[in-house]
Amino acid sequence: MNTFGQLFRVTTFGESHGPAIGCVIDGCPPGIAIAAEDFAGDLARRATGRTRHTSARHESDTVEILSGVYEGSTTGTPVALLIRNTDARSKDYDRIARQFRPGHADYTYWQKYGVRDPRGGGRSSARETTMRVAAAVVAKRWLRERHGVVVRGHLAQIGEIVPSAHDWSVVEDNAFFWPDAAQVPELETYMDALRKSGDSVGARVTVVADGVPPGWGEPVYGKLDADIAAAMMSINAVKGVEIGDGFASVAQRGTAHRDEMSAGGFLSNHAGGILGGISTGQRILASVAFKPTSSLRLPGRGLDIDGEAVEVVTTGRHDPCVGIRATPICEAMLALVLMDQALRHRAQCGDVGEVAPRIPAGAAQGESPGDAGDG
Ligand SMILES: Cc1cc2nc3c(=O)[nH]c(=O)nc-3n(C[C@H](O)[C@H](O)[C@H](O)COP(=O)(O)O)c2cc1C
Repeated sequence: MNTFGQLFRVTTFGESHGPAIGCVIDGCPPGIAIAAEDFAGDLARRATGRTRHTSARHESDTVEILSGVYEGSTTGTPVALLIRNTDARSKDYDRIARQFRPGHADYTYWQKYGVRDPRGGGRSSARETTMRVAAAVVAKRWLRERHGVVVRGHLAQIGEIVPSAHDWSVVEDNAFFWPDAAQVPELETYMDALRKSGDSVGARVTVVADGVPPGWGEPVYGKLDADIAAAMMSINAVKGVEIGDGFASVAQRGTAHRDEMSAGGFLSNHAGGILGGISTGQRILASVAFKPTSSLRLPGRGLDIDGEAVEVVTTGRHDPCVGIRATPICEAMLALVLMDQALRHRAQCGDVGEVAPRIPAGAAQGESPGDAGDG
């Protein structure tokens, strides 16, 4: 399955160390202004090699638009995007070509296909997520221009460290997408020590969409929250997804969790902007857990393809915390889900129009699970 979405269908292709990666967007509405330069911003946010805290691989990630755009606008025909791989160092993988790295996808790809491309992790590499981010540039633009929807995210935890403040205005100013500028030096020191130790650590990303109107989402098997969860779980190294208060809901009382309403708006957002699989008009709030990177230079016990015990040592260029680069990827998947659901809503319910009464989103939107912004 290399295709995502029902009406806004994104198919990606390519391997980490193949000649190129790419995607085809089928079902893209016509008339969206897009140029090759428009992809640069989000691709740079996802890219490696920009700081010492991510992998040192340095790809230029230059997008070539092969089809679907004429005189600067989408035409409604398939939008094909291509990025050539220019900094693959496959030699780094010679040593582990016959080994299964503990915690990576080597063993399961081998079991499934009986063959695998070990260079840079092949198709299981997060290099593939570059094309999700590229496709989502188109989706984000349409969502913003057509519906005023803004999708954004921030890192919400590295190891044990959580933000002391949530200031969206500083998120893009630091390499960690961290919402508390005062903590950045602490993160730098933490990551430097981690890198030196040779170990890795997990992380949590918060991703939100503001401005989503009520009504998007399709019960019962195409629920908005179900689509978001599936989209996030499809990202490499994701081990958990929460919507709104998520697992914190377990310890809550109904009186606390239900989002009460007033004429001025909802009074809280424990639901994360979704009820019955349909958007409420409040902030869509999701939280995504990333596991620690499995490719480590610290020796680990593994097996090779002959079933022999081996000591696995992974050299080469790896992210010590994959979550650091994951914020734009989570944003991309949320944008792709919303774009697809918006088109699906328009297809079925485009004639329904705005239904009264429409409850304003309210001031209490929430910044992270367990913080529903109770008003
Ligand atoms: C942005 C990003 C960067 C990643 N970089 C690495 C990496 O450098 N080394 C590595 O072993 N895994 C990395 N991963 C994770 C692997 O791709 C992933 O763990 C592997 O494909 C196995 O799949 P699973 O963890 O989803 O089960 C990265 C993941 C993301 C999202």
